[in-house]
Order: sequence, then structure tokens, then C-alpha cells
Amino acid sequence: MVRLRTIQANIVTLSVDAIVNAANSSLLGGGGVDGAIHRAAGPELLEECRKLGGCKTGEAKLTKGYKLPARFVIHTVGPVWKGGGKGEPQLLASCYRNSLAIANKQGFKTIAFPGISTGVYGYPFELAARVAVDTAAEVVQKSSKLEEIIFCCFSPDDLAVYESLLSKS
Ligand code: AR6
Repeated sequence: MVRLRTIQANIVTLSVDAIVNAANSSLLGGGGVDGAIHRAAGPELLEECRKLGGCKTGEAKLTKGYKLPARFVIHTVGPVWKGGGKGEPQLLASCYRNSLAIANKQGFKTIAFPGISTGVYGYPFELAARVAVDTAAEVVQKSSKLEEIIFCCFSPDDLAVYESLLSKS
């Protein structure tokens, strides 16, 4: 049984097989969680990212974790929120699905996600959390070697949203 759980933490501190980065399509770093991950991982992460040729919205790519306690980083690019009618829920679900597919393929047991698209990209937190939980639940139902999927929140308010959703799922 895969466990879905939520915690309040800085994602760069987590000792998991992979943390997921809410990147942009250049994969060359940025602000928010992306900036924090690159700072904590060190310059070798950017070097590896330069070789990946970017990443489309909804897709995901794998790198090593370098100086992070996490062994690997899965970089995914969430949609920019434009009101919800431009395919944002489907694209966000793809981010979770493709990240979990990489984790599965690699045989990872533990993975931690930030709230992809819920910062600079403006996706309403509660709507995004619903997509995250529903997609993860759907993926692990099919088949997964994963043992734990962690939804990592920065604020107590965000944590409460996930706690409420997970108590119902
Ligand atoms: N640990 C956990 N969660 C965090 C952390 C952290 N260290 N830092 C921020 N968050 P954002 P996006 C939360 O803006 O909306 C970058 O510049 C934050 O509270 O990082 O997908 C990229 O390069 C929010 O809930 O990502 C892109 O250009 C969530 O992480 C763009 O931002 C995501 O916020 C991507 O925007």
C-alpha cells in the first residue's frame, strides 16, 4: 500500500529518493522552490539541467540531487493559471502523472512534491491540491512500487488543505 501524506517543511531538507521541482520550461532555474532547490543542490545541478534541452509544460525530467539529501530531482513544468479553461487541470495532472511514472520506472520508494504551479504560476492552492491528490491516488491504484508520496507544504494554511483532502481520500 502506498501512503499519501502531507507535511509542512522546506522541501530541500527532505531525505527521500526524489523531490519534485516546480521548474520553468528552460530548466535553468528561477525563483520559489526552483531557486531553493538549485541553491541547495549546488552548481552541478544547473550543469546537468543545461544538457536536458528544456521541458514542456506537463512533462518531467530527471537529474541527480547533488548536495541535496534527496538522491534525485524530478523537474516538472506546471501550467500558468489562466482562469482554468485553458487545459490547466489536465496539464497539472500530467505533471503529477509523469513525475510518478519516472519514480516508478526508477524504482523509487519515496517522493515529495511541492504545490506545483501554486506560487508564481498562480494556480489556486485548493484546486491544485485536489488535482495532486486525485492524480496520485489514481496512479498508485493502478500499480506502483512507491511506498510513500509526500505533499510538502510551505505554510500551515496549505498543510490544512492537504490534511482535509487526504482525510477524505
Ligand atoms: N519548499 C516547499 N515548498 C516551497 C518552497 C520550499 N522551499 N518554496 C516555495 N514553495 P513556485 P510555480 C511552495 O512559485 O508556481 C519559479 O521561478 C510555494 O509556497 O516555486 O510552479 C520557476 O522557475 C508554492 O506553494 O512554483 C518557474 O518560473 C509552491 O511551492 C515558476 O517559479 C510553488 O511555488 C514556477 O511557478
